[in-house]
Formats: sequence, structure tokens, C-alpha cells
Amino acid sequence: MEGSLQLDFLGDLRRTHHCGELRAADAGKRAVVMGWIHRRRDLGGVIFIHLRDREGVTQAVFHADGDAVVHKRAEEIRPEFVVAVEGTVALRSKETINPSIPTGEVEVVADKVWILNESRTPPFPMEENVEVSEEARLKYRYVDLRRPRMQRNIILRAKVALEVRQALYEQGFLEIETPFMTRSTPEGARDFLVPSRVNSGTFYALPQSPQIFKQLLMVSGFEKYFQIVRCFRDEDLRADRQPEFTQIDLEMSFPQQDRVFEAIEPVMRRVCKAAGFDVATPFSRMTYDQAMRSYGIDKPDLRLPPFHMVTDLFEGANLGAEGMPLVAIHIPRTGGLSRKERDDLKPLGTEKGLRVFEDRKRLERDFPQAVAALRERVKPGEEDLLILCSAAEKPRSQRPEEDVLKACGQLRLQIGQKYNDRHKLLDPTDFKFLWVVDFPMFEWDQEENRWMAAHHPFTTVLDEHIDKLTTDPAACRAKSYDLVLNGVELASGSIRIHRRDVQSKVFAALGFSDEEARRRFGFLLDALEYGAPPHGGAAIGFDRLVMILAGETSIRDVIAFPKTAKGTDLMCDAPAEVPERQLRELGIALRKT
Ligand code: AMO
Repeated sequence: MEGSLQLDFLGDLRRTHHCGELRAADAGKRAVVMGWIHRRRDLGGVIFIHLRDREGVTQAVFHADGDAVVHKRAEEIRPEFVVAVEGTVALRSKETINPSIPTGEVEVVADKVWILNESRTPPFPMEENVEVSEEARLKYRYVDLRRPRMQRNIILRAKVALEVRQALYEQGFLEIETPFMTRSTPEGARDFLVPSRVNSGTFYALPQSPQIFKQLLMVSGFEKYFQIVRCFRDEDLRADRQPEFTQIDLEMSFPQQDRVFEAIEPVMRRVCKAAGFDVATPFSRMTYDQAMRSYGIDKPDLRLPPFHMVTDLFEGANLGAEGMPLVAIHIPRTGGLSRKERDDLKPLGTEKGLRVFEDRKRLERDFPQAVAALRERVKPGEEDLLILCSAAEKPRSQRPEEDVLKACGQLRLQIGQKYNDRHKLLDPTDFKFLWVVDFPMFEWDQEENRWMAAHHPFTTVLDEHIDKLTTDPAACRAKSYDLVLNGVELASGSIRIHRRDVQSKVFAALGFSDEEARRRFGFLLDALEYGAPPHGGAAIGFDRLVMILAGETSIRDVIAFPKTAKGTDLMCDAPAEVPERQLRELGIALRKT
């Protein structure tokens, strides 16, 4: 910047209106508006500016026959300069009304202008529909956040947080903070560590979630806790995962699973309403087993119909590996697919180890009765796609049948998404909430060769399965649940173990020695011996919730300052090396790799 431009002071100038506020009824009033220059047009002496602030855009006009000094000043204005304008609100002539903005019927006829700051040419335009690389957006995030879409998203986020707080306070939940500098809690991801200078050689861990603390708050008798809280996980990132993210974390005493659902559903209904969507409660429910059998996934997207097991209808037909399920995938309203489109389905199946049978005529010719029975079972419409899938080979795994169903589930989603654009199968404003319940208690870890807690090791087991904990871990079902919205895992939770004896059995099933359990969670085990009430809760992924409400597909677009997919912050260039002196103070020496 040249710096030759004379800048004005704000002094005690006060704005009278936001840029989104003025209407026809304000005509004749004096107004002072402030903001950024969104656009500027000079039509042979008449200068129009669009002034933008968080609430909207107002047009101001500087007429050629106005004050020459003011006019000269208006000529100096460029995009993204910060200015204040004072003038009289006037109705626009019929032909110049702009129906695309709420202030479009009026303009401010300016007689004073203050240039409060200048701006370099922004790295990308502020317009709504301009494609900008994510790298540029994140490097100049403060500019990116000025764009209307990001303003809407971040404002929505604040609104949703407020609604959540109000809804939970009304239900008697207390917002209680828990520490960020703590010891690791086991949620399955790696911890971010913080070295301690005072206690050299030791580390705090940033919490993956406040799980243990919220349980301790129940032992302390607070009964209903919540927190909108940052969590930290060093895990591989995706569009819906960040290394630091926010949860609506809650816990209650003396609940059954239904009480937790009754607490969460009104919160969800309320935030959806705030975003302009009505949703009905109670939400649907499905067990984990049902979800796997009908959707091949534990987070079914209910906007697409389930698939059907049709092994019984095609017995002896030899349509795939022996003993493995035959599945009919039904995708509505795809219309007649071309020969090429149908051919393209096969490799999608092959890459998942599936054989795909999509030739309806051929199937009808070879298996007329079975196909008739299949149609009777699935009842596809005229425009629907119906294909059969089977395993090319029996998977060599612990649960081969489940693996085939998972592959079919992926194929179902992939085809649904592929034809979504054309046929709007997956309407982002159609909110299909679903509770998935009764998850397996344990998952077998191939690498570690032992059972792992499917949710976390403080989750309790169905009452009738307590005795199976050590004898038949594979059969144990947990009192754990996920809230799924349109194929996204939005929340997860469980009823916890509140008895020391049950906790010991679960640790034993997980292969923890008493000593190891004591070393890792001694304080929780002690707490269970001091009158822990039955308790349970859940945590809702706040970023994911706002992402869906905003109609976005990445949580990065609803977080003010997110990390890239590689976990870096391009704006402040983090993570970064630190001076040797700082490391020495912490007693840390870096190993050359
Ligand atoms: P869980 O680990 O399932 O459960 O997390 C709860 C919810 O948090 C969201 N989430 C994430 N969002 C963005 N980026 C991430 N890296 C990320 N990881 C998780 C998801 C998820 O459903 N303590 C338990 C909850 C409980 O049992 O009460 C927990 O943290 O939406």
C-alpha cells in the first residue's frame, strides 16, 4: 500500500443502522452505516457503493452534483476499504429496485464519507459463487470468513450453540468446565501431549473427550452436566474430522437409555428449527444388528431404502461364493440407466470383492420365479434400479458374512451418491435422524490380538449379558447408542459402568491386568467405590451438526479457523519448530529421524 491516502478517524461517530436493516419505511431518515466496500461503480460521475457488514448490504450513492470534496473522497474508495457513510435514506426508482437484497428498495444518498482504512486487493473476490482454492481460503482465512457463505455458517454456529445451551439449561443441565491439561483418556485415537516444564520429563495430554471427568461429576452428585467443549485427537483426518473439534457433551445420573434420548431429541428439534427445519420426534430406532443386516453399515442413511437379503429366493442358483449372502440393492428413481452406466456398476462391485448382476432381462430369463418373488418382496417402482450382489469369494476374516454386507452397504451408498445429482435422491434438507442401539460390546483387534471396547471401556453391558463378559465376549451387547443423521454419525453415548465389580470384569475381558487398569484409570476405579450412581450420557459432534444444518459437506466450512486435511494451520503456520532454548527448558531433545 502506498500510504498516500488520507485516512479518517472514527472519533465518536456512531452507526445508526446495520447494512441489512434499512427498508422503504425508513425513507427520509438520516442514517450512518459502516462496513466494507463490497462493490463500487462509477457511472460517469454518479458513484454507487455497496457497503457490507455482517447483517447485509446497503447501497449508497454519491451524486455528481453533491459536495465536491465528498465526491472526490468517494472516488478514492476501492473494494474492501472500510468506510462510514452518512446520508438520507431515499426510495429507489422502480427500475432500480434490487429485489435480490432485503434493502433493495432504498439507498443512502450520501453527503458525508469517512475512509477508516484501506485494503490491499483481496486475494480472491467476495462474491458468493466464486470457486477459490482451499489453500488460499485457509491462508487468508480472515478474508474468507468475510464472504457471505462463511458469515452465514459461523453466525448459524453461534445461534445453534445458544439454542443448545438454552434447551439444556431448561432441562436442568449445568454447564461445568473440565480440564484441558489432563492425563490421557482412552477413546481410541492418539493423544496430543503437552510437556510439563516444572515436572520435567512428564506430559499432560489434551483430552480426547471429557469422558472420565463427566463421570466423576456424576459421582459428585451434580446429576446433569453438559459442556460445549473442545476435544483433541491425533487421528487421520477426513472431511468430517478435525484434530480439534467441538462436542456437546452431556451426562446424567439415574438414566435409562430412553432418558438420554428424551434429553437429546428436543435439543435436536430445537436447533433444527433455529436453522429453519422441522423434525419430528421421537426419532426412529434400530439395533446395530438390524442396521448391519439391512444397510451393511452402522450409520445408515435412511434417505435411501434398505437392501434385502434374497439368498433364500435364489437357492442353488450359484450366484456367488457359497454360504455368503445374496443381496438385492434397490435405489429408487434412477430412471433407465444406459448400457454403459449399467456396465460401470460392475467394477464398483469388483473393487469391493462383489459380483454385480444388473442385467434384468437375463435374470428374468434364467430365474423367472425367483425374480418374480424378488419383485414381490422389494416392490420396486418403474423408475427404480434393482441389482443383485454377492461375494466373488468368501472373505477370509473373523466375520465374513458381515464383511460382504458391509461391501454391499458401500455399493448402495456409492450408487445412491452417483445418481444423486441427477435425481436428487439425497436431499440435504430431508433430516432422517436415527438411533442405532445395542452395539457389540467388544471388537476384535487383529493387530493387538485382543478384544477392544467398541465404544469405550466404561460402557456397560446389557444386564442379561453380564455373565457372558468373560465367557463369550463376542456375544455381548453394550448399552451404547449412536445418533445418526443422513449417514453421518452425529453423536455417540452409553450407559456407564457404575459398579466396581462389573468394571473389573470388563477390564478382564479387555485383557487389562488389575495393575494396568489401576495405573491407567485408578482414580476412576476408586471413585466407583465411593457411591457412584447409575449414570450415562452422550456427546454430539457439534461441528458435524452445524455442517449438516448449514448444508455443507465439510466441517472445515463451519469452523472459523480449521486445520487442513494434513492437520496444519496455513494462516499461522502451525505446527512449527520452536527455539532450542524452549526445548531445553522443557528437558526435550529432538531425535534426528
Ligand atoms: P465419540 O468418540 O464417538 O464419543 O465422539 C462423539 C462425537 O464426536 C464427534 N467426533 C468428531 N468430530 C469432528 N472431528 C473428530 N475428529 C471427531 N471425533 C468425534 C462425532 C462423534 O459421534 N466420550 C464419548 C461420548 C460418550 O460416551 O458420552 C465420545 O467422545 O460426531
